[in-house]
Amino acid sequence: MSDTFTVWHHDTIGSTNDEARRQAAAGAPHGTVIHADEQTSGRGRRSHVWFSPPGNLYMSLLLRTGQPAHRITELSFLTALAVADTVEALMPVNIKPMLKWPNDVLVNGAKIAGILLEQVDDATIIGIGLNVLEAPTGSGYRTTTIVANGGIASVDGARDILLDRFGHHLAAWQQCGFAPIRDQWLARTYPIGAAIRVNGNGAAMVGSFVGLDDDGALLLDTPQGRQRLIAGEVARV
Ligand code: BTN
Repeated sequence: MSDTFTVWHHDTIGSTNDEARRQAAAGAPHGTVIHADEQTSGRGRRSHVWFSPPGNLYMSLLLRTGQPAHRITELSFLTALAVADTVEALMPVNIKPMLKWPNDVLVNGAKIAGILLEQVDDATIIGIGLNVLEAPTGSGYRTTTIVANGGIASVDGARDILLDRFGHHLAAWQQCGFAPIRDQWLARTYPIGAAIRVNGNGAAMVGSFVGLDDDGALLLDTPQGRQRLIAGEVARV
């Protein structure tokens, strides 16, 4: 059975992740969801600003999974799967979202969603931004939206599908562990053996994609041998 979620809606907020962190510190239960129509201080990974005008989905899920800390990054792959399911459900049938390590969701090579995972003591906060109507410009990478690809969605409709898919994958993760999530994630990313570049810590590494380690680390075969990467930006070469 899927978990149930309680949604707290705000017209405008600084950042749903910040509000979820405050709620976590105040003892809010597992399944609390903060949803806002717009954010004035939306945050992305590596302290980037997340473009947050009305028309897109901005929400943060507060989870208390009871799982050990080293398993928490698995949730970002699980979340990417739920977002990809949602995008696929809202798009014309010929359009298939694709996943890019660690947790980007792309449509025709353009980013359609972002996921920001944070930990506050025993609470995990999963922030999700999904471009429904508005795509940011000037972010340094290509972006797109549900509507630009011929999809039909209300923001609340997208939220409800996403919570349903997230609940489904979370229940599977709790019962069966990471391996089935990893397999589903791998089925939607670059083929094994694809040539990719990983930029991280100021250095770039090129090699062939091997897959994911048991904990979600990226495995890359390079002329220097097999590399195990836990952070970086991936691009196909
Ligand atoms: C990324 O950089 O790809 C992650 C972006 C995450 C954005 C979402 S929008 C809802 C939540 N609130 C935030 O301030 N950030 C996340």
